[in-house]
Amino acid sequence: MIDPQIIEEIKFRNDIESVVSSYVTLRRAGSNYSGSCPFHSEKTPSFVVFPATQSFYCFGCGAGGDAISFVMRAENVDYISAIKLLAQRGGLVLPDSIDGDNNKRGVGRQRVLDMNKEAAKFFHKCLFDEKIGAEARDYLMKKRGLPSAIINRFGLGFAPNSYGALHDHLRKLGYTDEEMCVAFLCGKGEKGIAYDYFRNRVMFPIIDTSGNIVAFGGRVMDDSKPKYLNTSDTPAFKKSKNLFALNFAKNNCENMMILCEGYMDVIALHAAGFENAVATLGTAITSEQARIFSKYTKKVIISYDSDEAGQRAANKAFNYLQEVGIDVKILKMSGAKDPDEFIKTFGATRFKDIIEKSRTRFDFELEKVLAKYNIADFDEKIKASKEICNIIASFSSDVEREVYCIKVAKLLELPKESIKKDVSSMVNKHIREEKKNQKNEIYRATSGIGDRINPESAANIRANKIEEAILGLMQLHEEHFKKCIETLTSEDFVTSFSRKIFEKMKELHSLNVKFDIAYFSEDFSQEEVSRIAKMQTDRQMLNSNGDDVLMGCIDSLRAEKNKKKSENSLDSLEALLKKKK
Ligand code: CTP
Ligand code: MN
Repeated sequence: MIDPQIIEEIKFRNDIESVVSSYVTLRRAGSNYSGSCPFHSEKTPSFVVFPATQSFYCFGCGAGGDAISFVMRAENVDYISAIKLLAQRGGLVLPDSIDGDNNKRGVGRQRVLDMNKEAAKFFHKCLFDEKIGAEARDYLMKKRGLPSAIINRFGLGFAPNSYGALHDHLRKLGYTDEEMCVAFLCGKGEKGIAYDYFRNRVMFPIIDTSGNIVAFGGRVMDDSKPKYLNTSDTPAFKKSKNLFALNFAKNNCENMMILCEGYMDVIALHAAGFENAVATLGTAITSEQARIFSKYTKKVIISYDSDEAGQRAANKAFNYLQEVGIDVKILKMSGAKDPDEFIKTFGATRFKDIIEKSRTRFDFELEKVLAKYNIADFDEKIKASKEICNIIASFSSDVEREVYCIKVAKLLELPKESIKKDVSSMVNKHIREEKKNQKNEIYRATSGIGDRINPESAANIRANKIEEAILGLMQLHEEHFKKCIETLTSEDFVTSFSRKIFEKMKELHSLNVKFDIAYFSEDFSQEEVSRIAKMQTDRQMLNSNGDDVLMGCIDSLRAEKNKKKSENSLDSLEALLKKKK
Protein backbone atom coordinates (compact mmCIF):
# COMPACT_ATOMS: atom_id res chain seq x y z
CA MET A 1 0.00 0.00 0.00
CA ILE A 2 1.13 3.52 -0.75
CA ASP A 3 2.24 5.45 2.32
CA PRO A 4 -0.93 7.06 3.75
CA GLN A 5 1.00 10.26 4.39
CA ILE A 6 1.65 10.58 0.68
CA ILE A 7 -2.00 9.99 -0.19
CA GLU A 8 -3.07 12.54 2.38
CA GLU A 9 -0.60 15.10 1.11
CA ILE A 10 -1.59 14.54 -2.51
CA LYS A 11 -5.26 14.95 -1.74
CA PHE A 12 -4.56 18.02 0.36
CA ARG A 13 -2.71 19.68 -2.50
CA ASN A 14 -5.20 18.68 -5.19
CA ASP A 15 -8.70 19.50 -4.16
CA ILE A 16 -11.23 17.76 -6.34
CA GLU A 17 -12.93 20.91 -7.61
CA SER A 18 -9.75 22.25 -9.12
CA VAL A 19 -8.63 18.90 -10.53
CA VAL A 20 -11.97 18.31 -12.23
CA SER A 21 -12.16 21.93 -13.42
CA SER A 22 -9.26 21.41 -15.75
CA TYR A 23 -11.41 18.89 -17.65
CA VAL A 24 -14.99 19.98 -17.05
CA THR A 25 -16.71 23.35 -16.80
CA LEU A 26 -18.31 23.26 -13.36
CA ARG A 27 -21.26 25.29 -12.14
CA ARG A 28 -22.09 25.81 -8.52
CA ALA A 29 -25.18 23.91 -7.38
CA GLY A 30 -25.78 24.57 -3.69
CA SER A 31 -22.76 23.34 -1.78
CA ASN A 32 -21.75 21.11 -4.71
CA TYR A 33 -20.78 21.61 -8.34
CA SER A 34 -22.26 20.12 -11.46
CA GLY A 35 -21.21 19.78 -15.08
CA SER A 36 -21.31 17.58 -18.15
CA CYS A 37 -19.77 14.19 -17.49
CA PRO A 38 -16.41 13.74 -19.21
CA PHE A 39 -16.86 9.95 -19.23
CA HIS A 40 -20.00 9.62 -21.32
CA SER A 41 -21.88 11.77 -23.84
CA GLU A 42 -24.75 13.70 -22.36
CA LYS A 43 -26.81 16.76 -23.04
CA THR A 44 -28.05 17.57 -19.53
CA PRO A 45 -25.34 17.64 -16.85
CA SER A 46 -25.55 14.74 -14.39
CA PHE A 47 -21.98 14.88 -13.13
CA VAL A 48 -21.60 16.19 -9.58
CA VAL A 49 -18.55 17.15 -7.53
CA PHE A 50 -18.92 17.05 -3.73
CA PRO A 51 -16.31 19.26 -2.08
CA ALA A 52 -17.35 18.10 1.42
CA THR A 53 -16.32 14.52 0.76
CA GLN A 54 -13.80 15.38 -1.97
CA SER A 55 -15.56 13.03 -4.33
CA PHE A 56 -17.41 13.00 -7.65
CA TYR A 57 -20.28 10.96 -8.98
CA CYS A 58 -22.08 10.83 -12.34
CA PHE A 59 -25.75 10.01 -12.01
CA GLY A 60 -25.80 9.24 -15.73
CA CYS A 61 -23.09 6.64 -16.18
CA GLY A 62 -22.27 5.76 -12.58
CA ALA A 63 -18.61 6.80 -12.68
CA GLY A 64 -17.47 7.96 -9.29
CA GLY A 65 -14.55 8.27 -6.89
CA ASP A 66 -11.98 10.82 -5.78
CA ALA A 67 -9.33 12.98 -7.43
CA ILE A 68 -7.07 9.98 -8.01
CA SER A 69 -9.67 7.80 -9.68
CA PHE A 70 -10.83 10.82 -11.65
CA VAL A 71 -7.36 11.27 -13.11
CA MET A 72 -7.08 7.51 -13.76
CA ARG A 73 -10.19 7.72 -15.90
CA ALA A 74 -9.60 11.07 -17.52
CA GLU A 75 -6.01 10.36 -18.49
CA ASN A 76 -6.50 6.64 -19.03
CA VAL A 77 -3.62 5.79 -16.69
CA ASP A 78 -3.04 3.36 -13.83
CA TYR A 79 -3.07 4.10 -10.11
CA ILE A 80 0.62 4.92 -9.73
CA SER A 81 0.68 7.15 -12.81
CA ALA A 82 -2.33 9.07 -11.53
CA ILE A 83 -0.59 9.57 -8.20
CA LYS A 84 2.51 10.76 -10.00
CA LEU A 85 0.52 13.22 -12.12
CA LEU A 86 -1.22 14.66 -9.09
CA ALA A 87 2.02 14.86 -7.14
CA GLN A 88 3.54 16.83 -9.98
CA ARG A 89 0.49 19.04 -10.17
CA GLY A 90 0.70 19.77 -6.46
CA GLY A 91 4.47 20.24 -6.50
CA LEU A 92 5.14 17.20 -4.36
CA VAL A 93 8.30 15.14 -4.80
CA LEU A 94 7.62 11.42 -4.46
CA PRO A 95 10.11 8.85 -3.15
CA ASP A 96 11.51 6.43 -5.77
CA SER A 97 10.12 3.46 -3.89
CA ILE A 98 6.68 4.29 -5.24
CA ASP A 99 7.37 2.34 -8.47
CA GLY A 100 8.70 -0.69 -6.64
CA ASP A 101 5.46 -0.86 -4.78
CA ASN A 102 3.62 -0.96 -8.08
CA ASN A 103 5.61 -3.89 -9.41
CA LYS A 104 5.10 -6.02 -6.36
CA ARG A 105 1.36 -5.84 -6.85
CA GLY A 106 0.79 -7.22 -10.31
CA VAL A 107 2.38 -6.05 -13.50
CA GLY A 108 2.58 -2.29 -14.00
CA ARG A 109 1.84 -0.30 -17.10
CA GLN A 110 5.46 0.64 -17.77
CA ARG A 111 6.59 -2.97 -17.59
CA VAL A 112 4.01 -3.95 -20.20
CA LEU A 113 5.05 -1.06 -22.44
CA ASP A 114 8.71 -2.06 -22.23
CA MET A 115 7.82 -5.64 -23.04
CA ASN A 116 5.68 -4.56 -26.00
CA LYS A 117 8.56 -2.53 -27.36
CA GLU A 118 10.86 -5.52 -27.20
CA ALA A 119 8.21 -7.68 -28.84
CA ALA A 120 7.72 -5.16 -31.66
CA LYS A 121 11.47 -5.05 -32.30
CA PHE A 122 11.50 -8.84 -32.35
CA PHE A 123 8.58 -9.07 -34.80
CA HIS A 124 10.13 -6.44 -37.05
CA LYS A 125 13.45 -8.27 -37.08
CA CYS A 126 11.72 -11.54 -37.94
CA LEU A 127 9.96 -9.86 -40.88
CA PHE A 128 13.29 -8.86 -42.37
CA ASP A 129 15.03 -12.11 -41.52
CA GLU A 130 16.15 -13.65 -44.78
CA LYS A 131 14.50 -17.02 -44.13
CA ILE A 132 11.91 -16.63 -41.37
CA GLY A 133 10.29 -13.54 -42.87
CA ALA A 134 10.28 -14.47 -46.56
CA GLU A 135 6.60 -15.38 -46.84
CA ALA A 136 5.44 -12.42 -44.76
CA ARG A 137 7.57 -9.99 -46.79
CA ASP A 138 6.07 -11.41 -49.94
CA TYR A 139 2.59 -10.97 -48.51
CA LEU A 140 3.04 -7.36 -47.40
CA MET A 141 5.18 -6.07 -50.25
CA LYS A 142 4.06 -8.09 -53.26
CA LYS A 143 0.52 -9.14 -52.48
CA ARG A 144 -0.53 -6.00 -50.56
CA GLY A 145 1.84 -3.66 -52.39
CA LEU A 146 3.32 -1.90 -49.37
CA PRO A 147 6.67 -0.14 -49.91
CA SER A 148 9.33 -0.87 -47.31
CA ALA A 149 9.29 2.78 -46.18
CA ILE A 150 5.67 2.36 -45.04
CA ILE A 151 6.40 -1.01 -43.43
CA ASN A 152 9.13 0.66 -41.41
CA ARG A 153 7.04 3.72 -40.59
CA PHE A 154 4.27 1.58 -39.12
CA GLY A 155 6.76 -0.81 -37.54
CA LEU A 156 5.05 -3.82 -39.10
CA GLY A 157 6.46 -7.20 -38.22
CA PHE A 158 6.03 -10.94 -38.39
CA ALA A 159 5.30 -13.38 -35.58
CA PRO A 160 7.00 -16.64 -36.57
CA ASN A 161 5.13 -19.91 -36.74
CA SER A 162 6.35 -21.10 -33.36
CA TYR A 163 4.93 -21.56 -29.90
CA GLY A 164 7.99 -20.23 -28.11
CA ALA A 165 10.09 -17.88 -30.25
CA LEU A 166 8.90 -14.66 -28.64
CA HIS A 167 8.57 -16.28 -25.23
CA ASP A 168 12.21 -17.42 -25.25
CA HIS A 169 13.35 -14.02 -26.48
CA LEU A 170 11.49 -12.14 -23.73
CA ARG A 171 12.63 -14.68 -21.15
CA LYS A 172 16.24 -13.87 -22.00
CA LEU A 173 15.46 -10.21 -21.43
CA GLY A 174 14.24 -10.99 -17.92
CA TYR A 175 10.47 -11.02 -18.34
CA THR A 176 8.48 -13.66 -16.48
CA ASP A 177 5.72 -15.89 -17.91
CA GLU A 178 3.26 -14.07 -15.69
CA GLU A 179 4.23 -10.72 -17.19
CA MET A 180 4.01 -12.03 -20.75
CA CYS A 181 0.52 -13.33 -20.09
CA VAL A 182 -0.63 -10.05 -18.54
CA ALA A 183 0.71 -8.22 -21.61
CA PHE A 184 -1.24 -10.66 -23.78
CA LEU A 185 1.86 -11.66 -25.67
CA CYS A 186 1.55 -15.20 -24.33
CA GLY A 187 -1.28 -17.46 -23.36
CA LYS A 188 -1.13 -20.17 -20.71
CA GLY A 189 -1.75 -23.79 -21.65
CA GLU A 190 -3.44 -26.46 -19.57
CA LYS A 191 -0.26 -27.39 -17.73
CA GLY A 192 0.46 -23.74 -17.02
CA ILE A 193 3.04 -23.50 -19.76
CA ALA A 194 3.21 -20.13 -21.50
CA TYR A 195 3.07 -20.14 -25.31
CA ASP A 196 3.24 -17.38 -27.94
CA TYR A 197 -0.18 -15.93 -28.58
CA PHE A 198 0.58 -14.55 -32.05
CA ARG A 199 1.88 -17.18 -34.46
CA ASN A 200 2.46 -17.05 -38.20
CA ARG A 201 0.83 -13.64 -38.52
CA VAL A 202 1.87 -10.25 -39.87
CA MET A 203 1.92 -7.89 -36.93
CA PHE A 204 0.53 -4.37 -36.62
CA PRO A 205 1.74 -2.51 -33.52
CA ILE A 206 -0.80 -0.11 -31.99
CA ILE A 207 1.03 3.03 -30.91
CA ASP A 208 -0.46 5.64 -28.60
CA THR A 209 -0.04 9.40 -29.01
CA SER A 210 3.02 9.40 -26.74
CA GLY A 211 4.73 6.83 -28.95
CA ASN A 212 4.25 3.85 -26.63
CA ILE A 213 3.47 0.51 -28.21
CA VAL A 214 0.30 -0.37 -26.33
CA ALA A 215 -0.99 -3.43 -28.21
CA PHE A 216 -0.82 -5.53 -31.37
CA GLY A 217 -3.08 -6.78 -34.09
CA GLY A 218 -1.95 -9.86 -36.00
CA ARG A 219 -3.34 -10.87 -39.42
CA VAL A 220 -3.15 -14.26 -41.09
CA MET A 221 -1.62 -14.31 -44.57
CA ASP A 222 -4.28 -16.53 -46.12
CA ASP A 223 -8.02 -17.03 -45.71
CA SER A 224 -7.84 -18.95 -42.46
CA LYS A 225 -9.71 -17.84 -39.37
CA PRO A 226 -9.66 -15.85 -37.24
CA LYS A 227 -8.38 -13.24 -39.67
CA TYR A 228 -7.10 -11.04 -36.86
CA LEU A 229 -5.99 -11.61 -33.31
CA ASN A 230 -5.85 -8.53 -31.13
CA THR A 231 -4.40 -7.75 -27.72
CA SER A 232 -7.15 -7.72 -25.11
CA ASP A 233 -7.24 -5.00 -22.50
CA THR A 234 -4.07 -4.90 -20.39
CA PRO A 235 -2.75 -2.50 -17.71
CA ALA A 236 -1.39 -0.45 -20.61
CA PHE A 237 -4.23 -0.66 -23.08
CA LYS A 238 -7.92 -0.23 -23.44
CA LYS A 239 -9.31 -1.01 -26.91
CA SER A 240 -12.19 1.39 -26.61
CA LYS A 241 -9.90 4.33 -25.82
CA ASN A 242 -7.33 4.08 -28.59
CA LEU A 243 -7.27 4.54 -32.35
CA PHE A 244 -4.97 2.92 -34.84
CA ALA A 245 -2.48 5.40 -36.41
CA LEU A 246 -3.59 8.32 -34.25
CA ASN A 247 0.09 8.76 -33.40
CA PHE A 248 0.65 9.88 -37.02
CA ALA A 249 -2.76 11.34 -37.78
CA LYS A 250 -2.72 13.68 -34.80
CA ASN A 251 -0.27 15.95 -36.62
CA ASN A 252 -2.33 16.24 -39.81
CA CYS A 253 -5.90 16.43 -38.75
CA GLU A 254 -7.08 19.89 -37.73
CA ASN A 255 -9.30 20.18 -40.80
CA MET A 256 -10.50 16.64 -40.99
CA MET A 257 -9.83 13.01 -40.24
CA ILE A 258 -10.71 9.89 -42.17
CA LEU A 259 -12.18 6.98 -40.20
CA CYS A 260 -11.73 3.53 -41.75
CA GLU A 261 -12.62 0.03 -40.64
CA GLY A 262 -9.38 -1.82 -41.25
CA TYR A 263 -5.70 -1.52 -40.40
CA MET A 264 -4.89 -2.27 -44.03
CA ASP A 265 -7.11 0.60 -45.20
CA VAL A 266 -5.36 3.03 -42.90
CA ILE A 267 -1.93 1.92 -44.01
CA ALA A 268 -2.88 2.12 -47.69
CA LEU A 269 -4.27 5.62 -47.16
CA HIS A 270 -1.15 6.80 -45.36
CA ALA A 271 0.97 5.33 -48.14
CA ALA A 272 -1.11 7.31 -50.65
CA GLY A 273 -0.56 10.55 -48.73
CA PHE A 274 -3.71 10.65 -46.58
CA GLU A 275 -1.97 10.87 -43.25
CA ASN A 276 -5.13 11.79 -41.38
CA ALA A 277 -6.62 8.28 -41.58
CA VAL A 278 -7.30 6.21 -38.46
CA ALA A 279 -9.28 3.09 -37.54
CA THR A 280 -10.87 1.64 -34.43
CA LEU A 281 -9.29 -1.50 -33.04
CA GLY A 282 -11.43 -4.37 -34.20
CA THR A 283 -14.58 -3.03 -32.54
CA ALA A 284 -17.37 -0.64 -33.40
CA ILE A 285 -16.65 2.95 -32.44
CA THR A 286 -17.32 3.85 -28.80
CA SER A 287 -18.37 7.15 -27.27
CA GLU A 288 -14.91 7.38 -25.73
CA GLN A 289 -13.35 7.19 -29.17
CA ALA A 290 -15.80 9.77 -30.47
CA ARG A 291 -14.51 12.12 -27.79
CA ILE A 292 -10.93 11.46 -28.88
CA PHE A 293 -11.88 12.62 -32.36
CA SER A 294 -13.44 15.78 -30.97
CA LYS A 295 -10.18 16.55 -29.21
CA TYR A 296 -8.25 16.53 -32.45
CA THR A 297 -10.54 17.61 -35.26
CA LYS A 298 -13.73 19.37 -36.36
CA LYS A 299 -14.65 17.07 -39.21
CA VAL A 300 -14.61 13.31 -39.78
CA ILE A 301 -15.19 11.46 -43.04
CA ILE A 302 -16.43 7.95 -42.44
CA SER A 303 -14.88 5.70 -44.98
CA TYR A 304 -16.13 2.23 -44.15
CA ASP A 305 -16.37 -0.83 -46.37
CA SER A 306 -19.05 -0.60 -49.03
CA ASP A 307 -20.79 -3.84 -48.00
CA GLU A 308 -23.94 -3.85 -45.92
CA ALA A 309 -22.19 -4.48 -42.62
CA GLY A 310 -19.87 -1.59 -43.30
CA GLN A 311 -22.75 0.72 -44.06
CA ARG A 312 -24.62 -0.24 -40.94
CA ALA A 313 -21.50 0.40 -38.90
CA ALA A 314 -21.13 3.77 -40.65
CA ASN A 315 -24.56 4.86 -39.41
CA LYS A 316 -23.64 3.99 -35.85
CA ALA A 317 -20.33 5.80 -36.08
CA PHE A 318 -22.14 8.78 -37.55
CA ASN A 319 -24.38 9.08 -34.50
CA TYR A 320 -21.57 8.81 -31.98
CA LEU A 321 -19.47 11.40 -33.76
CA GLN A 322 -22.30 13.82 -34.27
CA GLU A 323 -23.17 13.60 -30.60
CA VAL A 324 -19.82 15.13 -29.67
CA GLY A 325 -20.31 17.99 -32.08
CA ILE A 326 -18.25 16.83 -35.02
CA ASP A 327 -19.20 17.65 -38.60
CA VAL A 328 -19.57 14.12 -40.01
CA LYS A 329 -19.67 13.10 -43.64
CA ILE A 330 -19.98 9.68 -45.21
CA LEU A 331 -17.93 8.61 -48.19
CA LYS A 332 -19.64 6.98 -51.12
CA MET A 333 -17.42 4.41 -52.66
CA SER A 334 -18.38 2.32 -55.65
CA GLY A 335 -16.35 -0.14 -57.65
CA ALA A 336 -14.30 -1.27 -54.65
CA LYS A 337 -15.01 -3.02 -51.36
CA ASP A 338 -12.82 -0.82 -49.18
CA PRO A 339 -10.51 2.22 -49.35
CA ASP A 340 -7.46 0.01 -49.77
CA GLU A 341 -8.91 -1.63 -52.88
CA PHE A 342 -10.25 1.69 -54.15
CA ILE A 343 -6.84 3.32 -54.11
CA LYS A 344 -5.22 0.30 -55.73
CA THR A 345 -7.82 0.30 -58.49
CA PHE A 346 -8.43 3.99 -59.12
CA GLY A 347 -5.51 5.84 -57.52
CA ALA A 348 -5.15 8.54 -54.88
CA THR A 349 -6.52 11.39 -56.99
CA ARG A 350 -9.85 9.64 -57.46
CA PHE A 351 -9.98 9.00 -53.72
CA LYS A 352 -9.47 12.69 -53.13
CA ASP A 353 -12.40 13.36 -55.45
CA ILE A 354 -14.76 11.12 -53.55
CA ILE A 355 -13.63 12.64 -50.26
CA GLU A 356 -14.65 16.02 -51.58
CA LYS A 357 -17.97 14.59 -52.69
CA SER A 358 -18.70 12.91 -49.36
CA ARG A 359 -22.13 13.76 -48.06
CA THR A 360 -24.16 14.21 -44.91
CA ARG A 361 -25.85 11.17 -43.47
CA PHE A 362 -29.23 12.39 -44.63
CA ASP A 363 -28.23 12.82 -48.27
CA PHE A 364 -26.44 9.52 -48.13
CA GLU A 365 -29.44 7.61 -46.86
CA LEU A 366 -31.87 9.50 -49.02
CA GLU A 367 -29.99 8.40 -52.07
CA LYS A 368 -30.09 4.78 -50.93
CA VAL A 369 -33.87 4.89 -50.64
CA LEU A 370 -34.33 6.68 -53.95
CA ALA A 371 -32.20 4.06 -55.67
CA LYS A 372 -34.54 1.36 -54.36
CA TYR A 373 -37.85 2.79 -55.55
CA ASN A 374 -39.34 4.20 -58.69
CA ILE A 375 -41.09 7.26 -57.33
CA ALA A 376 -43.05 7.76 -60.53
CA ASP A 377 -45.05 4.76 -59.38
CA PHE A 378 -47.67 5.74 -56.82
CA ASP A 379 -47.30 2.74 -54.46
CA GLU A 380 -43.54 2.88 -54.53
CA LYS A 381 -43.63 6.57 -53.77
CA ILE A 382 -45.61 5.86 -50.59
CA LYS A 383 -43.08 3.22 -49.51
CA ALA A 384 -40.19 5.56 -50.23
CA SER A 385 -41.84 8.36 -48.30
CA LYS A 386 -42.35 6.09 -45.30
CA GLU A 387 -38.71 5.07 -45.22
CA ILE A 388 -37.50 8.60 -45.66
CA CYS A 389 -39.73 9.87 -42.86
CA ASN A 390 -38.26 7.22 -40.62
CA ILE A 391 -34.77 8.45 -41.45
CA ILE A 392 -35.75 12.05 -40.74
CA ALA A 393 -37.24 10.97 -37.42
CA SER A 394 -33.88 9.55 -36.34
CA PHE A 395 -32.32 13.03 -36.22
CA SER A 396 -32.51 14.60 -32.81
CA SER A 397 -32.45 18.25 -33.82
CA ASP A 398 -35.80 19.95 -34.58
CA VAL A 399 -34.19 22.30 -37.06
CA GLU A 400 -32.55 19.47 -38.94
CA ARG A 401 -35.85 17.58 -39.16
CA GLU A 402 -37.66 20.68 -40.38
CA VAL A 403 -35.13 21.33 -43.14
CA TYR A 404 -35.24 17.73 -44.35
CA CYS A 405 -39.04 17.68 -44.37
CA ILE A 406 -39.10 20.67 -46.67
CA LYS A 407 -36.53 19.10 -48.93
CA VAL A 408 -38.34 15.77 -49.17
CA ALA A 409 -41.75 17.36 -49.72
CA LYS A 410 -40.36 19.12 -52.76
CA LEU A 411 -38.59 16.07 -54.01
CA LEU A 412 -41.57 13.73 -53.74
CA GLU A 413 -44.04 16.45 -54.69
CA LEU A 414 -46.08 15.87 -51.57
CA PRO A 415 -47.54 18.45 -49.16
CA LYS A 416 -45.01 19.49 -46.51
CA GLU A 417 -47.64 19.09 -43.77
CA SER A 418 -48.24 15.41 -44.39
CA ILE A 419 -44.53 14.65 -44.40
CA LYS A 420 -44.15 16.53 -41.13
CA LYS A 421 -47.09 14.69 -39.61
CA ASP A 422 -45.63 11.30 -40.51
CA VAL A 423 -42.26 12.28 -39.16
CA SER A 424 -43.63 13.48 -35.86
CA SER A 425 -45.65 10.31 -35.28
CA MET A 426 -42.47 8.31 -35.90
CA VAL A 427 -40.55 10.55 -33.52
CA ASN A 428 -43.17 9.79 -30.88
CA LYS A 429 -42.86 6.10 -31.56
CA HIS A 430 -39.09 6.33 -31.09
CA ILE A 431 -39.60 8.18 -27.83
CA ARG A 432 -42.02 5.53 -26.57
CA GLU A 433 -39.55 2.78 -27.43
CA GLU A 434 -36.77 4.69 -25.76
CA LYS A 435 -38.84 5.05 -22.58
CA LYS A 436 -39.62 1.35 -22.57
CA ASN A 437 -35.93 0.55 -22.90
CA GLN A 438 -35.14 2.91 -20.06
CA LYS A 439 -37.73 1.26 -17.86
CA ASN A 440 -36.26 -2.15 -18.55
CA GLU A 441 -32.83 -0.75 -17.83
CA ILE A 442 -33.96 0.67 -14.50
CA TYR A 443 -35.66 -2.60 -13.61
CA ARG A 444 -32.46 -4.48 -14.36
CA ALA A 445 -30.37 -2.04 -12.37
CA THR A 446 -32.57 -2.13 -9.27
CA SER A 447 -33.16 -5.85 -9.31
CA GLY A 448 -29.45 -6.52 -9.55
CA ILE A 449 -29.92 -8.79 -12.57
CA GLY A 450 -26.83 -8.63 -14.72
CA ASP A 451 -24.91 -6.70 -12.07
CA ARG A 452 -21.34 -7.46 -13.09
CA ILE A 453 -19.80 -5.66 -10.14
CA ASN A 454 -21.74 -7.47 -7.47
CA PRO A 455 -23.23 -10.56 -9.13
CA GLU A 456 -24.59 -11.80 -5.81
CA SER A 457 -26.83 -8.76 -5.37
CA ALA A 458 -29.67 -10.23 -7.47
CA ALA A 459 -30.12 -13.17 -5.12
CA ASN A 460 -29.72 -10.95 -2.05
CA ILE A 461 -31.54 -7.77 -2.89
CA ARG A 462 -32.41 -6.80 0.67
CA ALA A 463 -29.10 -7.76 2.21
CA ASN A 464 -27.24 -5.92 -0.54
CA LYS A 465 -29.24 -2.74 0.08
CA ILE A 466 -28.44 -2.87 3.79
CA GLU A 467 -24.78 -3.58 3.14
CA GLU A 468 -24.54 -0.66 0.76
CA ALA A 469 -26.15 1.60 3.34
CA ILE A 470 -23.69 0.50 6.02
CA LEU A 471 -20.67 0.86 3.76
CA GLY A 472 -21.95 4.26 2.65
CA LEU A 473 -22.42 5.43 6.22
CA MET A 474 -18.95 4.22 7.10
CA GLN A 475 -17.52 6.41 4.37
CA LEU A 476 -19.53 9.40 5.41
CA HIS A 477 -18.69 9.67 9.12
CA GLU A 478 -15.59 8.69 11.00
CA GLU A 479 -17.64 7.67 14.05
CA HIS A 480 -19.73 5.33 11.92
CA PHE A 481 -16.57 3.88 10.48
CA LYS A 482 -15.14 3.14 13.93
CA LYS A 483 -18.41 1.83 15.25
CA CYS A 484 -18.79 -0.68 12.42
CA ILE A 485 -15.20 -1.86 12.64
CA GLU A 486 -15.79 -2.50 16.35
CA THR A 487 -19.17 -4.20 16.09
CA LEU A 488 -19.15 -5.98 12.72
CA THR A 489 -17.02 -8.79 11.33
CA SER A 490 -16.53 -9.83 7.70
CA GLU A 491 -18.77 -12.81 8.40
CA ASP A 492 -21.72 -10.50 8.99
CA PHE A 493 -21.75 -9.57 5.31
CA VAL A 494 -23.80 -11.57 2.86
CA THR A 495 -22.30 -10.68 -0.54
CA SER A 496 -18.61 -11.18 -1.14
CA PHE A 497 -18.20 -7.80 -2.83
CA SER A 498 -19.36 -6.01 0.33
CA ARG A 499 -17.21 -8.30 2.42
CA LYS A 500 -14.17 -7.43 0.33
CA ILE A 501 -14.84 -3.71 0.86
CA PHE A 502 -15.29 -4.19 4.58
CA GLU A 503 -12.04 -6.13 4.80
CA LYS A 504 -10.15 -3.35 3.07
CA MET A 505 -11.68 -0.90 5.55
CA LYS A 506 -10.53 -3.10 8.40
CA GLU A 507 -7.05 -3.15 6.95
CA LEU A 508 -7.03 0.65 6.86
CA HIS A 509 -8.23 0.78 10.44
CA SER A 510 -5.57 -1.64 11.63
CA LEU A 511 -2.94 0.59 10.05
CA ASN A 512 -4.45 3.53 11.86
CA VAL A 513 -5.45 5.15 8.58
CA LYS A 514 -8.63 7.16 8.10
CA PHE A 515 -11.05 6.05 5.43
CA ASP A 516 -10.16 7.38 2.00
CA ILE A 517 -11.44 5.91 -1.24
CA ALA A 518 -8.01 6.63 -2.70
CA TYR A 519 -6.75 3.38 -1.17
CA PHE A 520 -9.36 1.36 -3.04
CA SER A 521 -8.15 2.36 -6.48
CA GLU A 522 -5.10 0.20 -5.87
CA ASP A 523 -6.80 -3.19 -5.74
CA PHE A 524 -10.37 -2.50 -6.90
CA SER A 525 -11.31 -1.88 -10.55
CA GLN A 526 -12.61 1.52 -11.62
CA GLU A 527 -16.14 0.15 -11.87
CA GLU A 528 -15.84 -1.21 -8.35
CA VAL A 529 -14.51 2.10 -7.06
CA SER A 530 -17.44 3.85 -8.74
CA ARG A 531 -19.85 1.53 -6.97
CA ILE A 532 -18.20 2.23 -3.63
CA ALA A 533 -18.44 5.96 -4.33
CA LYS A 534 -22.11 5.51 -5.17
CA MET A 535 -22.78 4.01 -1.74
CA GLN A 536 -21.46 7.17 -0.17
CA THR A 537 -23.26 9.48 -2.59
CA ASP A 538 -26.56 7.69 -1.97
CA ARG A 539 -26.25 8.37 1.75
CA GLN A 540 -25.19 11.95 1.19
CA MET A 541 -28.40 12.53 -0.72
CA LEU A 542 -30.41 11.49 2.33
CA ASN A 543 -30.79 13.44 5.53
CA SER A 544 -31.04 10.42 7.78
CA ASN A 545 -27.50 9.33 8.52
CA GLY A 546 -27.44 9.31 12.29
CA ASP A 547 -26.46 6.67 14.85
CA ASP A 548 -29.97 5.27 15.06
CA VAL A 549 -30.00 4.64 11.31
CA LEU A 550 -26.66 2.91 11.46
CA MET A 551 -27.68 0.71 14.38
CA GLY A 552 -30.90 -0.15 12.58
CA CYS A 553 -28.93 -1.21 9.51
CA ILE A 554 -26.57 -3.34 11.58
CA ASP A 555 -29.50 -5.15 13.20
CA SER A 556 -31.20 -5.70 9.87
CA LEU A 557 -28.01 -7.03 8.33
CA ARG A 558 -27.61 -9.55 11.12
CA ALA A 559 -31.21 -10.62 10.71
CA GLU A 560 -30.68 -11.05 6.96
CA LYS A 561 -27.54 -13.05 7.55
CA ASN A 562 -29.35 -15.38 9.94
CA LYS A 563 -32.14 -15.82 7.46
CA LYS A 564 -29.61 -16.76 4.78
CA LYS A 565 -27.87 -19.13 7.15
CA SER A 566 -31.05 -21.03 7.94
CA GLU A 567 -31.96 -21.08 4.23
CA ASN A 568 -28.56 -22.57 3.49
CA SER A 569 -28.82 -25.21 6.16
CA LEU A 570 -32.28 -26.11 4.89
CA ASP A 571 -30.79 -26.42 1.43
CA SER A 572 -28.08 -28.74 2.64
CA LEU A 573 -30.57 -30.73 4.67
CA GLU A 574 -32.64 -31.15 1.56
CA ALA A 575 -29.62 -32.22 -0.43
CA LEU A 576 -28.71 -34.70 2.27
CA LEU A 577 -32.21 -36.19 2.25
CA LYS A 578 -32.17 -36.44 -1.54
CA LYS A 579 -28.87 -38.27 -1.41
CA LYS A 580 -30.23 -40.75 1.08
CA LYS A 581 -33.17 -41.50 -1.16
N1 CTP B 1 -11.02 -7.31 -37.28
C1 CTP B 1 -10.73 -8.05 -36.15
N2 CTP B 1 -10.90 -9.39 -36.11
C2 CTP B 1 -11.37 -10.05 -37.21
C3 CTP B 1 -11.70 -9.33 -38.36
C4 CTP B 1 -11.50 -7.96 -38.37
O1 CTP B 1 -10.27 -7.48 -35.18
N3 CTP B 1 -11.51 -11.37 -37.15
C5 CTP B 1 -10.82 -5.87 -37.26
C6 CTP B 1 -9.40 -5.45 -37.63
O2 CTP B 1 -9.09 -4.30 -36.86
C7 CTP B 1 -9.54 -5.10 -39.08
C8 CTP B 1 -10.92 -4.50 -39.14
O3 CTP B 1 -11.68 -5.22 -38.19
O4 CTP B 1 -8.53 -4.22 -39.48
C9 CTP B 1 -11.58 -4.55 -40.49
O5 CTP B 1 -11.73 -5.88 -40.90
P1 CTP B 1 -11.40 -6.32 -42.38
O6 CTP B 1 -11.97 -5.36 -43.35
O7 CTP B 1 -11.81 -7.74 -42.48
O8 CTP B 1 -9.81 -6.27 -42.37
P2 CTP B 1 -8.73 -5.40 -43.14
O9 CTP B 1 -7.73 -4.94 -42.14
O10 CTP B 1 -9.36 -4.37 -43.95
O11 CTP B 1 -7.99 -6.49 -43.99
P3 CTP B 1 -8.06 -6.85 -45.53
O12 CTP B 1 -8.31 -5.62 -46.30
O13 CTP B 1 -6.72 -7.42 -45.72
O14 CTP B 1 -9.12 -7.87 -45.70
MN1 MN C 1 -11.07 -4.36 -45.10
